[in-house]
Amino acid sequence: MALDSNKTAKVTFGDKELDFAMMSPSLGPDVIDIRKLYAQGDVFTYDPGFTSTASCESAITYIDGDKGELLYRGYPIDQLAEKSHFLEVCYLLLYGELPTAAQLDDFVPRVTRHTMLQDQMTYFYRGFRRDAHPMATMVGVVGAMSAFYHDSTDITDPDQREIAAIRMIAKIPTIAAWAYKYSIGQPFVYPRNDLDYASNFLHMCFAVPAEDYVVDPILSRAMDRIFTLHADHEQNASTSTVRLAGSSGANPFACIAAGIACLWGPAHGGANEACLNMLREIGTVDRIPEFIARAKDKNDPFRLMGFGHRVYKNFDPRAKVMKQSADEVLGLLGIDNNPTLQVAKELERIALEDEYFVEKKLYPNVDFYSGIILDAMGFPTSMFTPIFALARTVGWVSQWKEMIADPTQKIGRPRQLYTGAKHRDYVDVEKR
Ligand code: ACO
Repeated sequence: MALDSNKTAKVTFGDKELDFAMMSPSLGPDVIDIRKLYAQGDVFTYDPGFTSTASCESAITYIDGDKGELLYRGYPIDQLAEKSHFLEVCYLLLYGELPTAAQLDDFVPRVTRHTMLQDQMTYFYRGFRRDAHPMATMVGVVGAMSAFYHDSTDITDPDQREIAAIRMIAKIPTIAAWAYKYSIGQPFVYPRNDLDYASNFLHMCFAVPAEDYVVDPILSRAMDRIFTLHADHEQNASTSTVRLAGSSGANPFACIAAGIACLWGPAHGGANEACLNMLREIGTVDRIPEFIARAKDKNDPFRLMGFGHRVYKNFDPRAKVMKQSADEVLGLLGIDNNPTLQVAKELERIALEDEYFVEKKLYPNVDFYSGIILDAMGFPTSMFTPIFALARTVGWVSQWKEMIADPTQKIGRPRQLYTGAKHRDYVDVEKR
C-alpha cells in the first residue's frame, strides 16, 4: 500500500497532538497508519470485531459492501461465476493472474495428481464416532495432515509452501467427501482424476462401489459455482483466524484447521445449515409472520438466518448468482415446489419489503440460497458447512501464502481494554 505524503491524520488527546501517515489503497477508503500510536501516544485504539481496522495488506480480494461488489484479483464475481470454473479461479487467487491455456494445462493435473489421501489416514477416520458432525471430523483430519505430510510443513521454504497449497486444494474434496461417507456408514469412494473438480467431489459423495454414479453436468456446474462463489472473501473471521494462526509460524495444515474451526460457527459458515434448519422449523408459509416478529423482537435472540452481512449493506453479489443457480437446479430436479422452497421464497419476498429489514439493509446473503441448492442435490444439512470449508480452502491458502511472503508480517497480537480488578493482595483462604 502506498504511503500518501499529501495526507496525514491528526489525533489530539490530552496535551498531545500526533500526526499519522495515510495510506492509499488501489480501491476502497484510505487507511490511517497508526502503528506508532502506542509508542508515541501511550494509548491503544478500541475496535472489537475489527469493524474499522485493516489488519493486513492484501492484493487478493476486494469488497465494496455498499455497492454490493466482490472482485477476485480485480475480476467481478458474477463474470467469474458465469465464464470461468473453479480450478481456474484457484489459479487466479493463488498466483494473481488468469492462467494462459498452457498454464492451466499444467495446473489442473498438478491438483488432480494430489487428490488421494495417505492411506494411513483411513485409519485416522475410523477413530471418530460415526455420528460425529462432518465439520468435527474435518477439523481433526486437516489438523492431522501435518502428521502425514512432513515434507511440506517448513514454511520458510517456498517450494514446500507451494506443495502444501496444492495438497490442501487437491485433498480437501476427498477429506470432506470421506467425512460424509464415514458419517453415513458407507465405504470411502476414491477420487477419479478423469473427472473435473466438482464432478469428482459429487462422485466421491454419492457413488457406491455396488453401482455406477453418473454426474449430471447441470449439478456439477452448480457445485462448481458454489465453490467459486465461496472461494475467498478477504479478511472474514475464518481467514483472519488462518492469518493469526499462521503469524506465529504454525504450519499450513494447522492454520487451515483453525480456519475450519472458526467457519463452523452459525454466524459465519454454519449459517447455511442454520438457515435450512430454520426454514424447516418454520415449515409452512402461514407461520412466517410469527418468525419475522421474533426476528424484530429485541428481547428475543432469534435472528433470521441467511439474512444480513457484516460487510454487504446492499445485496450480496454472490446471492444473485446463487439465486439463479437455485432456480436452474430445482427446475432440473423438478422440485421447484417443495414446502421448504415455498417458505424460502415467501420469506425472501416479505423480508425484502418489511421496514425493519429494509431500514437495517438486511438482504438475503449467499447462504440463504446455497442451502436450498445443496439440499436439492441430496446433501444433508450437516454437509453444508464442510462444502463451504472445501471451497474456502483456496482463499485461506492464498491469504496464508501472501502473508508468509510479506516482509512486514509480524505475529498478530491485539491489545485490550482491561476492566478487571486493580492490584490487590492475596488473602489466605481462612480469612476470605
Ligand atoms: N435477523 C434479524 N435482525 C438482524 C439480523 C438478522 N439476520 N442481522 C442483523 N440484525 C439486526 C441486529 O439485531 C442489529 O439491530 P440493532 O441495530 O437494532 O441492534 C442490526 O441488524 C445490525 O446487526 P449486527 O449484528 O450489528 O450486524 P453485524 O454486521 O455484526 O452482523 C451478521 C452480521 C453476523 C451476519 C448478522 O447479520 C447475522 O447474525 N445474520 C444471520 C446469520 C447469517 O446469515 N450469517 C451468514 C453471514 S454470510 C457468511 O458467513 C458467508
